[in-house]
Amino acid sequence: MAYLALYRAWRPQRFEEVVGQEKTVTALRNAIKEGRLSHAYLFSGPRGTGKTSIAKIIAKAVNCEHIEDGEPCNLCSSCTDINNGNFMDVIEIDAASNRGIDEIRDLREKVRVLPAQGKKKVYIIDEVHMLTTEAFNALLKTLEEPPESVIFILATTEPQKIPDTIRSRCQSYSFRRLTGPEILERLQQVAASDNIELDQEAGRLIARRANGGLRDALSTLDQIYSYKGKTIKKEDVLDVLGLVDELFLARLLEKVVKQDTAGIIEMLAAALGEGKEAQQLARESALYLRDLLLYMVIGDETDFLVVTAASKPLLEEQKSQIDRSQILQALRLMMDTADKLRFSEGNRFILEVAFLQMSQIFNNETPIVQPARQEGKTTRVQAGSKGTKPDAREVLWNRLLVGVKEKKITTHALLCQGKLLGARDDVLYIGYKKGYRLHKERMEEKDNRELVESVARDILKRNVEIEFVFLDDEQYNDIIVKKAIEYFGEDIVEIKD
Ligand SMILES: Nc1ncnc2c1ncn2[C@@H]1O[C@H](COP(=O)(O)OP(=O)(O)O)[C@@H](O)[C@H]1O
Ligand SMILES: [Mg+2]
Ligand SMILES: [Zn+2]
Repeated sequence: MAYLALYRAWRPQRFEEVVGQEKTVTALRNAIKEGRLSHAYLFSGPRGTGKTSIAKIIAKAVNCEHIEDGEPCNLCSSCTDINNGNFMDVIEIDAASNRGIDEIRDLREKVRVLPAQGKKKVYIIDEVHMLTTEAFNALLKTLEEPPESVIFILATTEPQKIPDTIRSRCQSYSFRRLTGPEILERLQQVAASDNIELDQEAGRLIARRANGGLRDALSTLDQIYSYKGKTIKKEDVLDVLGLVDELFLARLLEKVVKQDTAGIIEMLAAALGEGKEAQQLARESALYLRDLLLYMVIGDETDFLVVTAASKPLLEEQKSQIDRSQILQALRLMMDTADKLRFSEGNRFILEVAFLQMSQIFNNETPIVQPARQEGKTTRVQAGSKGTKPDAREVLWNRLLVGVKEKKITTHALLCQGKLLGARDDVLYIGYKKGYRLHKERMEEKDNRELVESVARDILKRNVEIEFVFLDDEQYNDIIVKKAIEYFGEDIVEIKD
């Protein structure tokens, strides 16, 4: 399917076509009308919010042969040449490239040369914060004694990296992120004009995911269109972006709140099985928590990133089950986890441990909101602390059970009567209580043992042996409760991808 490059086709050609940025647009258009443009501008703001587009509109406006009401005509030869990138006096420099640095170096001489084709030379220097000190100095010298017929427009996503000496010689405009509704409106306009059937929910989802940048929104629309064709539904967006359905997130959090460990592991396994990335799951969950937190604080004013009407009832319920400080902790945990997962290519285990930790955060630390839920548990669990070890064991156990169940249901039935005690020197110990001797003996049979070992190897990415231990009740409790840490703590958590 043809690639439309929508964001190019939809570059605003006149001030009137710019979405948002009203103050900037009005100020610049007035300056053009009144002939009092400055010789240097600094445009700062997130990517895809209109900096280059407006720079080009200015370039056209100062060279246009039929300027009207501060707008370029887009018909005269100057305008069309600029639109096509064939105009000698509009010079675009990408400061992030090596060539850009060279171009700045001989800028001082070149700016003295009068415009070849038009009335004014316009230098558009993109990503200007990337310039070297040397290049900044060269630029500064030029800005200190600006030639009459030159306009500089510097654009950056990181204004704090621009030296004050440069900044003070420019008129500054900051570009804001566009709002969800602004982006949605433009998406719908683009879709309608290109005969794309963009479902309302799909559009909203793209808009909210663009994080204020219209370029990203349009590129996303392009991408989905090229995969899915002219009819675009919400599922198509989720699918192409690898996003998780918000209802899934809401239900997952429900399980986290209920401390339904098996349910959590199963849901995660299902999502991963569908090809979602572990990192994406952590990120999406963080966004969901962010929505929940804001909803608690400001209610319906919230500009939701993932939550929609469909998951609102669940959100409402969760609002009364968890408190703010818990959500903050969980949010931090999920963001850290997403970070960690970026460098470990989707280690599913890291993800699972994080969700169980979140479950503990929600269940152990609500003395005021939920005294009923305490059930005698008072340990405060934090990511990375010693207290995470029992989690790792729990996760591993659940993973083993799920993995074995997938392979052989009868082995699973035997295994689940036992309990993972811990690990030491590449041996996993699985204990059976009194009354389950037969189970233990059956598990020791070659087939069963090897099955569990192979599942464990897949999870832990190393060879492990399994030892089945028979315990009478007393011993069992003793080991679990008293010796848990020294006996089982260390090895299990050292899981490599
Ligand atoms: N404010 C805006 N109004 C309309 N379209 C925009 C706006 N901002 C970005 N776009 C769209 O995104 C594309 C890239 O915008 P651009 O001006 O190059 O962003 P920036 O220079 O801020 O990264 C444009 O071609 C246009 O399709
Ligand atoms: Mg740009
Ligand atoms: Zn013109």
